[in-house]
Amino acid sequence: QVFHLEDYKPTDFLIPETHLDFRLHPERTIVKSTLKIERREGVALDTPLILDGDELKLESICIDGVALGDNTYVVTPDRLEIRGLPEAETFTLEITTEINPTANRQLTGLYRSSNVYCTQCEAEGFRRITYYLDRPDLLSVYTVRVEAETSAAPLLLSNGNPGEKGTLDDGRHFAIWHDPHPKPAYLFALVAGDLGVITDTFTTASGRPVNLGIYVEHGKESRALYAMDALKRSMAWDEEKFGREYDLDVFNIVAVSDFNMGAMENKGLNVFNDKYVLAEPDTATDVDYAGIEAVIAHEYFHNWTGNRITCRDWFQLCLKEGLTVYRDHEFSADMRSRAVKRIAEVKGLKAHQFPEDAGPLAHPVRPRQFREINNFYTSTVYEKGSEVVRMIRTILGAETFRKGMDLYFERHDGDAATIEDFIKVFEDASGEDLSQFALWYDQAGTPNLAITYDYDQATKTFEIEIEQSLKPTPGQPSKKPMHIPIQFGLLGTKGREIRPRATKGGLVKDDVIHLRKRKERFTFSGITERPVPSLLRGFSAPVTMTSELTRSDLAFLARNDRDEVTRWQALTQLLNSKLTSNSKRVRGGKPATIESSSIRLLGELAFNNALDEAFRALCLNVPSESDIARELGANIDPEAILGSRDALILAVAEAHGEKFEQLYNELEHHGAFNPDAAGAGRRSLRNVLLDYLSVADGNPKRASKQFKQANNMTDRAAALNVLVQRFGTSTATNDALQAFEARYGNDALVMDKWFVVQAMQPGESALGKVNELMKHQLFSLDNPNRTRSLIGAFSSGNQTGFNRADGKGYQFFAETILTIDKKNAQLAARLLTAMRSWRSFEPERREHAREALASIASVAGLSTDVRDIVERTLA
Ligand code: ARG
Ligand code: ZN
Repeated sequence: QVFHLEDYKPTDFLIPETHLDFRLHPERTIVKSTLKIERREGVALDTPLILDGDELKLESICIDGVALGDNTYVVTPDRLEIRGLPEAETFTLEITTEINPTANRQLTGLYRSSNVYCTQCEAEGFRRITYYLDRPDLLSVYTVRVEAETSAAPLLLSNGNPGEKGTLDDGRHFAIWHDPHPKPAYLFALVAGDLGVITDTFTTASGRPVNLGIYVEHGKESRALYAMDALKRSMAWDEEKFGREYDLDVFNIVAVSDFNMGAMENKGLNVFNDKYVLAEPDTATDVDYAGIEAVIAHEYFHNWTGNRITCRDWFQLCLKEGLTVYRDHEFSADMRSRAVKRIAEVKGLKAHQFPEDAGPLAHPVRPRQFREINNFYTSTVYEKGSEVVRMIRTILGAETFRKGMDLYFERHDGDAATIEDFIKVFEDASGEDLSQFALWYDQAGTPNLAITYDYDQATKTFEIEIEQSLKPTPGQPSKKPMHIPIQFGLLGTKGREIRPRATKGGLVKDDVIHLRKRKERFTFSGITERPVPSLLRGFSAPVTMTSELTRSDLAFLARNDRDEVTRWQALTQLLNSKLTSNSKRVRGGKPATIESSSIRLLGELAFNNALDEAFRALCLNVPSESDIARELGANIDPEAILGSRDALILAVAEAHGEKFEQLYNELEHHGAFNPDAAGAGRRSLRNVLLDYLSVADGNPKRASKQFKQANNMTDRAAALNVLVQRFGTSTATNDALQAFEARYGNDALVMDKWFVVQAMQPGESALGKVNELMKHQLFSLDNPNRTRSLIGAFSSGNQTGFNRADGKGYQFFAETILTIDKKNAQLAARLLTAMRSWRSFEPERREHAREALASIASVAGLSTDVRDIVERTLA
């Protein structure tokens, strides 16, 4: 079944009140739902009430206290249709269902994770708990009673504020929760179990005291302190930057170890993948800390952008996700280095969203159709969705953007809103027509800008001509020109910024070129020397560029621009052109060539003390194998790419070896670990140097030493990574892997890193390693984090190991996906997207990939999730 945006219709019935009563039991949980139902005005009396279900078992059903006769309703596990309803405008419907949380391996609805009962209802999991109008525009006030065996579940949580609780005589107890804010079913949550807690308090700007709780496995309480700190900073930041205060007496977060996604913003009761809660210097890397800070903020910010204002239907998913990602990006930028954070975002966008946009799974930020909504929690909806919000801010300016946001909160609080509503607040706040801009929500694909320049010394004018193009994507053969904001500067001698006297042609406002036509010319006058243009500062639009800039122009920008994002972009472009041409040479059996100018430039950036260490590390981290593959776009041969990349690293390492060594030693940190941006930056620079130095050394001694001496996980994991990547078969590597396992064998999150690092081992031997690790006693396909750490890392991260010329990697993957699909369809479908770029490989690999995909597609009884992905990928 395919769902279409234009088919939206409001419900015939409303549910102003929802009362849920849970009698928790591991295999037989009884859910009694009492719903106040209201027929919407004008709806015919004989209209049936049709409720959603999913694998449900109905125990009893009555209306206004009277059991329904068999002929008045039709029930299946996924649907309940009630005919012959009372004529009264409102009535009470009571439904009892029985569910089995232990048998629930899909991890949506009510399930158990390490003996903890928890729920995941977004997008359509609530219907696995009880029959309901399970759609985001149906808002209801919830009162929830949870009852369980006291010893097994001393903790009973749900949304909203806590109410009455008490003991029952049979060793059981109960708690009642009431959430005064009407909400859609996808925001419902329940948690029950035996967990440890850390508590804190936050007082909102208007003086409301809020009790904060983070619940984790007993013994791991101290690992939640950083998350708590991030939560309090998020609450203060949302008040300061968006004027948004929290609105309940409590805010609880629960960390569980079996979770399909990162986390979930259930009202007042966020449920998290424990990966995004737990951190200590000895177990978590700097990347983990930054991830926790971002996800804690993200879920908290949803309280306004998602919960107070929710989505009319799932086509509007980016209304809450794109906006909330934008907000968490800004939060992290304020907490850390803005430029470094922005570059990380650009890298992420290019690594995940651009390939999605360029392949068979491309879809608009707001899709118009879907078969399975869970397959649309994508990088396009989230990350590109965030970029679209960022562009609105760039186009309107910070102040008008804030006015628009204020208007959004004022006008739509309590609504299930649409993208049109969102755009309208900015039109009203600015008086501008954003209809052309709104195409960003509708047109899939990454626009490319072809840019040419012309400087006329006689008239002192500089001309930039830009032509935008957007390739066809599935269902969208032709595209309209978009409104693209290009932040820019013109650089003169020594990097001095040149201010044009006047501009002619297309619209230029302050430092932003507004490209609105397919092809447009922008003429700047009063330019006394030929400038080097710095375009797309701050990565002001999610586009690619092909420009006439020479290698020396790019090097000039990398050295001199004041915008670090452009500096990094220019350097990357310079390296990419070399790495791609070398990949072709290596594939043709010729050696890679490296020019000394790039080596010099990298050295200059690495040794420039005026720059942030984190930025210097980003510069030294040359484009990854998949970055290079993406740049090549077609006929990809991962072995040749690896050869090309390694040749560059070796040349740089040999040229700068001594100074790298000196810097590596200088950067060694003695004293207490601090997860802040400065400490993380130092470690990232030092650890990229470790890789260069190890390549130059040609032996594992240095990495082995760092592995043994490290006093934090960042340095330890980085050393282990160098050992596996560079010296996979050495005794030093085996010893380190064994030591790691001996030390962390009982710590699931840390052991995930151990699986990842081995899944990423380069070359043909990786598949054997992955097969061996699947038999490891700690491996299980039942745990999503563990599955992602081995199967996910291998398929989406290991270019040479997965994309073997003989196709064995694909074959193994297809079989594994089918196994996972039987347990957890959402996870299987998500993993399968690793094959979305299969058409860009060289013919032999491409054919093997097609066969593997076809072997999945040929299986009867696939989940809707996997069927949807595999068919679109092959189409
Ligand atoms: N709303 C959650 C978040 O982004 C993600 C939930 C994903 N759920 C799903 N079924 N795909 O914070
Ligand atoms: Zn979200």
